[in-house]
Amino acid sequence: MTVAAKTTERQRAKPTAAASSPQPTDLLAWYDRHRRKLPWRAPPGQRADPYRVWLSEIMLQQTTVKAVGPYYARFLARWPEIRALAAAPLDEVLRTWAGLGYYARARNLHACARAVVERHGGKFPASETDLRELPGIGAYTAAAIAAIAFDASTTPVDGNIERVIARLYALDPPLPVAKTEVSRLAQALTPPRRAGDFAQAMMDLGATICTPKRPACALCPWNESCAAYARGDAETFPRRVPKREGQLRRGAAFVARRADGFILVRTRPAKGLLGGMTEVPTTEWAKDFDESVARKGAPRFAAKKSPKWRRIAGLVRHVFTHFALELTVYAANVPARTTAPEDTRWVAISELAGEALPSLMRKVLAHALHSDRKHKVQPGKDRS
Ligand code: ADE
Repeated sequence: MTVAAKTTERQRAKPTAAASSPQPTDLLAWYDRHRRKLPWRAPPGQRADPYRVWLSEIMLQQTTVKAVGPYYARFLARWPEIRALAAAPLDEVLRTWAGLGYYARARNLHACARAVVERHGGKFPASETDLRELPGIGAYTAAAIAAIAFDASTTPVDGNIERVIARLYALDPPLPVAKTEVSRLAQALTPPRRAGDFAQAMMDLGATICTPKRPACALCPWNESCAAYARGDAETFPRRVPKREGQLRRGAAFVARRADGFILVRTRPAKGLLGGMTEVPTTEWAKDFDESVARKGAPRFAAKKSPKWRRIAGLVRHVFTHFALELTVYAANVPARTTAPEDTRWVAISELAGEALPSLMRKVLAHALHSDRKHKVQPGKDRS
């Protein structure tokens, strides 16, 4: 049989139009059998604790379920309820968050815990409107908390749910144009009862069946009511306008290591990218970074003789939401008890794990310190 003939046969095997409209009860029945076991979910039939729902929803913003798991467990073990979190120093919250990314979330998490204690006596409000007044809670998170913790008849629309809706109705306008329509359709589908389960069922459907690539349509409880499945091109939804990549930024990072086992760091400004996090000194991150003058951006020590900065082979790459970054890393050894330049401080290498170091800085340090080990071994080899 030719490829063309095979294709025609496969296409004929598909229904030509969605045979029925999607029923929430079909999705809920599927959820009752196939729901994912997630640490923040209440057992079937029970209402989830709003504190846990909120904590998980903030962590899950732009972050996968897998990455969130250990952080969620750590936060909950350390701060089992909102008053404990509100009473914690921000610095400790940032340190416990380190590695999860998007650090504004951690600052807002802390501010929100305080606001809930101060404005609402430690109890989360149940309405989306009141939830949205709290730091770090936008439209999506307010809907997710209202539905999951309070069973409000609302459906949060994240990327997974957008995809499910765009396919169910074969929406042709590309995202983000179709966003309003997606929200309207999701809301219209939301049942008056079990709205929290419905929202989580939509999330599970998007994450496990209605996946971006190779969706498992044969296993979908809504396949007979899916317009995209009926057309045979589910994978092409949602339509998208091609994204313009942010321009690459480049810069240099300086890892100064003191002979008595300390690394020079500083704290980033509280506002903005990686706000309040710890970093090694760096130059500006710019589109037109000139590596030949990078050393001029190195920290200046009080000693007359500046340290010898050596360039570590290779680059550290990191992708932020709006741009990609490439850092050239320089390392230098300085004598024990060298004083830290203004706005910087020394941290013992053994204490680095306790610092609020974003992933980017962990990569920079690993890059420099790993090469440092090799660098230390090297002279011995040269001498032999
Ligand atoms: N993504 C965002 N919120 C979620 C939740 N409550 N469960 C699973 N994935 C999610």
